[in-house]
Amino acid sequence: MNDSSFKRADRAERSSQATTLYRHLVARAAERGAPPLAALVAEIAYAAKLVAREARQAALTGRLGTVGSANATGDTQKELDVLANQIFLDCLDASGLVAAVVSEELEGVELQHCRGDAEYFVCLDPVDGSSNLKVGTSLGSIFGVYRRTRPGSCEGVEQELLNESSLMAGGYVLYGAATAFVYTLGERVDGFVLDQEIGEFLLSHPDIRCPQSGSGYSINTGNSHLWEPGVLDFVRHLDTVAPAAGLPYTLRYSGALMADLHRILLEGGIYCYPADKDHPDGKLRLLYEAAPLGLLAEAAGGRASSGRERILEVPRRALHQTTPLALGSAEDVATYERFLAEAAA
Ligand code: F6P
Repeated sequence: MNDSSFKRADRAERSSQATTLYRHLVARAAERGAPPLAALVAEIAYAAKLVAREARQAALTGRLGTVGSANATGDTQKELDVLANQIFLDCLDASGLVAAVVSEELEGVELQHCRGDAEYFVCLDPVDGSSNLKVGTSLGSIFGVYRRTRPGSCEGVEQELLNESSLMAGGYVLYGAATAFVYTLGERVDGFVLDQEIGEFLLSHPDIRCPQSGSGYSINTGNSHLWEPGVLDFVRHLDTVAPAAGLPYTLRYSGALMADLHRILLEGGIYCYPADKDHPDGKLRLLYEAAPLGLLAEAAGGRASSGRERILEVPRRALHQTTPLALGSAEDVATYERFLAEAAA
């Protein structure tokens, strides 16, 4: 065998023995006593591959434009937002496991198999950071899977989702230099990268642990004139030149939460979208952004906060409710909370 056939053999062996997302899901869902979750999250991953293909080709297929309408939370809808939303809806419907879907791109709850024994609700942001699309930089998708308390009925589904259901799984897809799929069923976080040639997500980052503190932060400093004093104090603190205390931090802000959070989960640091004068209740959506990412950050040993309370304890009141959000390293998020509390006192 010459050198290159050795490499081919190696690669074939590595791939046949690799932990594919599906193999991983089947094992984890069985451990959690919820086998259908494996099929459901696998279906979400399938949808993500279709969205990745459309995003990659968008400049060539003429899908960079807007559709001339605003979504439920007032953002201008892009063609890719609408297409990705439909891809997710079709795939979730095909799974037969989803009673109803809440999406950033839909005003109300989209009923699917609520009359059957489908046990789950899915809340999702099909394309996060879609303003990056026209310049070809990173995008994301975010999902949360909530377990029903009253399968079999389509009555009062919205109230059931808001008041009774529990968040079982959360995750995101990052469409960047690689397409990454990161998920948790609540106890640990694992990351996968799409092998384009075989069309499979393969385990690349097992058991992600977010460092206790980091050296970078992500926040839109262009909004600083709108911030409350505690947020200003915190950012001034991060910008202080004090090398012995690990300061200053480096600022990285991409306009796509998934790109910023992925870096922070792996390297530590903090992402914040605080309340400000233009967004008194923050900008990010609780059900399909903050809560699933909060579950994921905590499962990775990090922290997720509104600045005043744990994100996972923020009461759910409405489908598209927003919340201030800080996510990332446990110590950095705790410091942020302390600055907010001190300024308020
Ligand atoms: O809507 C969510 C989002 O696009 C995030 O992905 C991103 O971090 C943030 O909003 C950007 O908002 P802004 O342009 O107001 O900083």
